[in-house]
Amino acid sequence: MVAKYSNQKEKIKKKEIQEAAEEIKKGNLVLFPTETVYGIGANALDEKAVKKIFEAKGRAGDNPLIVHVANIQMVEELVETITPLEKKLIQEFWPGPLTVIFNRKSKEIIPNVVTANLNTVGIRMPSNKIAQELIQMAGVPIAAPSANVSGKPSGTTVEDIIEELQEKVSYILDGGFADIGLESTVIKVVEKQIVILRPGKITKEQLEKVAREVKIDNHVLAKVKKGEKVESPGMKYRHYAPNTNCMMVYGKNTKKMVDKINSITNDLLEQGKEVLILGKKQNLKDYIASEKWNMGENMEEIAKNIFALLRKVDKEKVDLVIIEGVGEKDLGLAITNRLIRACSYNYIIVE
Ligand code: TXA
Ligand code: MG
Repeated sequence: MVAKYSNQKEKIKKKEIQEAAEEIKKGNLVLFPTETVYGIGANALDEKAVKKIFEAKGRAGDNPLIVHVANIQMVEELVETITPLEKKLIQEFWPGPLTVIFNRKSKEIIPNVVTANLNTVGIRMPSNKIAQELIQMAGVPIAAPSANVSGKPSGTTVEDIIEELQEKVSYILDGGFADIGLESTVIKVVEKQIVILRPGKITKEQLEKVAREVKIDNHVLAKVKKGEKVESPGMKYRHYAPNTNCMMVYGKNTKKMVDKINSITNDLLEQGKEVLILGKKQNLKDYIASEKWNMGENMEEIAKNIFALLRKVDKEKVDLVIIEGVGEKDLGLAITNRLIRACSYNYIIVE
């Protein structure tokens, strides 16, 4: 199968979104942009269609999908109740990069494949206009994981994912580079407390303006041990990791961090090994390595660039990639969560 492709980047025509919506209605898969990352979508109410997503990604069946909606009525049809705190979150952050885990209404409405048999369902209303129109025109909620083969970094631009996915979907809507670059914040309300299961663009600090207590699930920064029960199945799986060995080094004090990275680099160079540094634009001049890539100047830029960069590091054939950490404040928590996974938990914090 060769997918139909909207050819005018960032200027997708209504007719093309309509064609893609028809594919959704027919039970086929569509690659579409959201403000966070690209998604591979199917009609969330069609079990057979949703199964195709799991096949296309090589995704574990116990990892549930996020359901994307275009209006509140779609949510009401799927969930048991919307609590006052959930309502507040919706008012404040939708449409946008926040996924809320609700109790699902009845097992008959959303097929079990979508929720991996859980009693809950993750829902978000994307702010990307193409995504919104696609859902509206399809007239059904769209289940969609990030567009990538399982284990790889999520796709933030069609060029990066077209090879691995073009034969698996029926339509590709190319909306240019994703605005945010990291997946949505996933939260659950537990007894008037917000629990962050996956950090994203909507930060803990922003959520604290809506609820008094915001907790970060332990597994956001710690590795899941074998057999350990987790709140969100996605936490268990290998993610974002290049094949090349990667290490994250972070220090609040930039000079100490740079010194540490240079000392690791120096040891490796002496052994005849090659190193690639991913650092902030303003720090690159201070590194002794010859290969260094600009991650961006601030958190927003780093969030936007990081997945595309991680997808390219294997081509460099170096022995180690050293990535500057960014700390855990604001958007830093989401970036750190992705980086420590990309590095398979190989990281150093410089005191
Ligand atoms: O920004 C995003 O969220 C993107 C775009 C396409 O919307 N989607 C995305 O989907 O990142 P995915 O499938 O790659 O990640 C969804 C995460 C997984 O970690 C999954 O385990 C968790 O959300 N999740 C989904 N439903 C859940 C549920 N009912 N309970 C707990 N965790 C859930
Ligand atoms: Mg994903």
